[in-house]
Amino acid sequence: MASSTGPTGPTGPTGGAGLSGSSVSARLPVFPWDKLEPYKAAAAAHDGGIVDLSVGTPVDPVPELIRRALTDAADSPGYPTVWGTAELRDAITGWCERRLGAAQLTHRNVLPVVGSKEFVAWLPTQLGLGPGDRVAYPRLAYPTYEVGARLARAEPVVYDDPTELDPDGLRLLWLNSPSNPTGRVLDAEQLTRTVAWAREHGVLLVSDECYLELGWDTDPVSVLHPEVCGGSYEGVVAVHSLSKRSNLAGYRAAFVAGDPAVLGELLHIRKHGGMMVPAPVQAATVAALGDDAHVAQQRERYAARRAALRTALEGRGFRIEHSEASLYLWATRDEPCWDTVGDLSKLGVLVAPGDFYGTAGERFVRVALTATDERVAAAVRRLES
Ligand SMILES: Cc1ncc(COP(=O)(O)O)c(C=O)c1O
Repeated sequence: MASSTGPTGPTGPTGGAGLSGSSVSARLPVFPWDKLEPYKAAAAAHDGGIVDLSVGTPVDPVPELIRRALTDAADSPGYPTVWGTAELRDAITGWCERRLGAAQLTHRNVLPVVGSKEFVAWLPTQLGLGPGDRVAYPRLAYPTYEVGARLARAEPVVYDDPTELDPDGLRLLWLNSPSNPTGRVLDAEQLTRTVAWAREHGVLLVSDECYLELGWDTDPVSVLHPEVCGGSYEGVVAVHSLSKRSNLAGYRAAFVAGDPAVLGELLHIRKHGGMMVPAPVQAATVAALGDDAHVAQQRERYAARRAALRTALEGRGFRIEHSEASLYLWATRDEPCWDTVGDLSKLGVLVAPGDFYGTAGERFVRVALTATDERVAAAVRRLES
């Protein structure tokens, strides 16, 4: 047999060692970051260098107390558990009660995950969804909700108002508040109405709240708040990540909280699948969830960058829609998004075209707040020139 470097090797996904027929990757949506490459090259050619506001990856340091907790736990020779240490589960339930207002959570209500992206991508598969099942998510959305549906061969469905969905075959309903890419926040009334609708129709509601700590014009509410879920977690799960709030995207630290029946089933499956958060990351997560000061400090950084970028964009004729929370400004000049991307790239500023998040975004761009103060100041000067 000819040598192969594996599924992505020279023989390609279907031609190599023992793989035949259906390629899983062929089911996945094309997410054309490649299309942005020429604009990235144009922006990089700017005299003052590129200001890359196209991706939401944290750039500020990992807080010292979190690094210390990680290194203190560096001598971790044994396997960690999928459910996490008792200290980690205590830290998660404690944080959910303190920060989200969730009442009477036990360890059965929580589950650590290896960053929230893997959870989003694999939840439909781990729930056993498949052909004939439908998975719904917002019309403008983080692309991984669709990826997850397609990995499971379930049908992806987009919505404007989830309570207007046809519940037939609908098994999983994603909410994302605050939203990526729009920064829109669902208020308590909208959340309450949607929880009631999902329960009435027996649809599992999973709320991705990974930007919840980054509310600017409003304070986002969790689905776990008793006013929203009525103090019962039946049929409701919230997803939280430390990537943005604590600059821990590189650690892969996240968790889910809610319905114990759903989480118990997932725990069982994930144990068999070996989906463990590394022990030092578990220890770091305990430290991060126990400290609010670094979150406040990081919020101040983003608030200042947001204010400066917003003013500069508005001065250049942009209208900002939603964006009341999250790490992004959702901006339009009422022109095709690629015209905006091209125009800003000439200033050395790279932004994400709105159509990456659904065709409804084709006249918007997403401007991330994740660049250093120095780079944001450079972008502002160029936008104001
Ligand atoms: C809405 C949303 N959910 C989940 C994630 C994944 O975050 P992580 O895997 O770092 O926890 C992101 C990342 O950008 C996101 O925007």
